[in-house]
Amino acid sequence: LSSEPILHQGALINELISIIRKKQVKKIVVDGTCGTGSHSLAILENFYNEIDTLYCIDIDSEILEIAKQRITSKLAEIKEKEQNINTIVNFVHNNYKNLANILSEKADIIILDLGVSYYHLKVKERGFSFESEIIDMRYDKNSGIPASVVIKNLPPDKLCKILTNYADIKNPQRFVSLLKEYFNHTKNQEVPLGVFLAKHCKKVRGRLHPATLIFQALRMYVNDEINNLKHFLNIIPQILNIEGMLFIITYHSIEDRLVKEYFKKYTATKEFSLYSKKVIKPTYQEILQNQSIRSAKLRILYRNK
Ligand SMILES: C[S@@+](CC[C@H](N)C(=O)[O-])C[C@H]1O[C@@H](n2cnc3c(N)ncnc32)[C@H](O)[C@@H]1O
Repeated sequence: LSSEPILHQGALINELISIIRKKQVKKIVVDGTCGTGSHSLAILENFYNEIDTLYCIDIDSEILEIAKQRITSKLAEIKEKEQNINTIVNFVHNNYKNLANILSEKADIIILDLGVSYYHLKVKERGFSFESEIIDMRYDKNSGIPASVVIKNLPPDKLCKILTNYADIKNPQRFVSLLKEYFNHTKNQEVPLGVFLAKHCKKVRGRLHPATLIFQALRMYVNDEINNLKHFLNIIPQILNIEGMLFIITYHSIEDRLVKEYFKKYTATKEFSLYSKKVIKPTYQEILQNQSIRSAKLRILYRNK
């Protein structure tokens, strides 16, 4: 039985492609969060005759396998139609924070599309969704600690910190009690955690539902998302080529603030500049087609020398 793979619909692809089109050199291209591959595929389709190596990186080997099948077959199709195309695609199961070790030369284009993919939310066994019976949330199934273990093992004050730091929840104690209560009584576990939280927490107008915020905070903690991003932002000079461009798409204010801060620091030197002062956001039309990208923000850093 073959079923259609669950595919993530990437954000801001048209914007990205039209900016990359204006750029002279695009020999080494890195998609640091390849997911099911929509950005990589668009880049390959548009610029295959200009790319030497495309690196498709993801920390989740399962999702990378889907990208590999799609991209390999696209490349074969291109090579069949056109001779003399020597583009190589490297699929790398790794953390983008390790790019300095992964790359053998500096990149002309680097893309990070942060956050969770539609695939993760839809595949219930991965434990990212409200309806999941399992509370796992690890992008890399073979390392780290599942969210359920985090909730059971961490003391309440530590859990409070996670909710405050990653979801800006002002009075987290009540939510932490609910999380503990869920695992303390097997009866509660007759419904998924997301459903349990949705039932017991009230939404405040103008804010995301507390259950959404709690899930988001747990996911960010379990995957060490902020530290990965910080580590990456620190190694930019080691991995981005002269005249190279770095594209970062964020969906979360903490991440966007961090990217903005680092870009500001880099552009204070003559070595880097911003591609555009204004952050690039999806159009109304794009949001209508894909609600999940409504909070996407794209920032672009250019390396002058
Ligand atoms: C929003 S999705 C990317 C979607 C992709 N651009 C597409 O269009 O299909 C984010 C991806 O980043 C991956 N990821 C998260 N943290 C990572 C890390 N530290 N290193 C590499 N990949 C990571 C996730 O597994 C997920 O597939």
